[in-house]
Amino acid sequence: MKNLVILTGAGMSAESGISTFRDAGGLWDQYPVEQVATPEGYVANPQLVIQFYNERRKQLLQVKPNRGHELVAELEKYFNVTVITQNVDNLHERAGSSHVIHLHGELTKVTSTLQPNNPNYIKELKPEEFEVKIGDLAADGSQFRPFIVWFGESVPMIEKAIEYVETADVFLIIGTSLNVYPAAGLLNYVPRDVPVYLIDPKEVPIASDRKVYAIRKGASDGMEELKKILVR
Ligand code: OAD
Repeated sequence: MKNLVILTGAGMSAESGISTFRDAGGLWDQYPVEQVATPEGYVANPQLVIQFYNERRKQLLQVKPNRGHELVAELEKYFNVTVITQNVDNLHERAGSSHVIHLHGELTKVTSTLQPNNPNYIKELKPEEFEVKIGDLAADGSQFRPFIVWFGESVPMIEKAIEYVETADVFLIIGTSLNVYPAAGLLNYVPRDVPVYLIDPKEVPIASDRKVYAIRKGASDGMEELKKILVR
């Protein structure tokens, strides 16, 4: 089977009812990104940051994968699929995708404030534990913080993501404005002769001379169309 590598962003989950970040009325319009998604914001007001991610976690229990997620999972019948997502929700997994790399962390996990990338301190929360409180401590005695890669922090999973991108036979981008690096730079690692598809209702500027086959639709309709192209 051929390798299909898929890079997804917030637009992938928009039809499930989760806001994107940069569209009008998006999450960063409602909450200042400096306050809720930077290490400095966390130091300044841990309570606010913990509460912000508690709310995102609560929302996870109210949403479900959309047709787009389901079609991404269905493509495993025809391809070795690797999903590289910037999303911190678990909708790809819940739709049945079996190989998902989370570049920006996962809402369902918390970690040590002192050593966020030490695997010994990362904990998967059960739904009944989704409400994290000040005073909930990691195994090293520090406050549990969200397992989220904030602005200004390194992206440890990028190396693994690059390895998969380099083996792609087909590359697909769904629902990302390609504003945030290093994720947006993954396109540069796609081998030269590999076809690149992009599903997004808006035009996404591409910072590369790559030829990209754009499908100007939402994730669900776009995936229906792409499936017809890829699976004949
Ligand atoms: P953005 O909010 O920047 O971009 C969302 C993209 O989804 C835009 O290009 C929209 O046109 C598109 N879109 C909207 N509705 C859609 C739909 N129904 N179907 C398909 N696409 C749709 O989100 P990201 O590019 O994912 O990081 O943002 C990247 C990172 O920036 C996020 O992971 C987050 C954020 O700050 C962290 O929180 C660390």
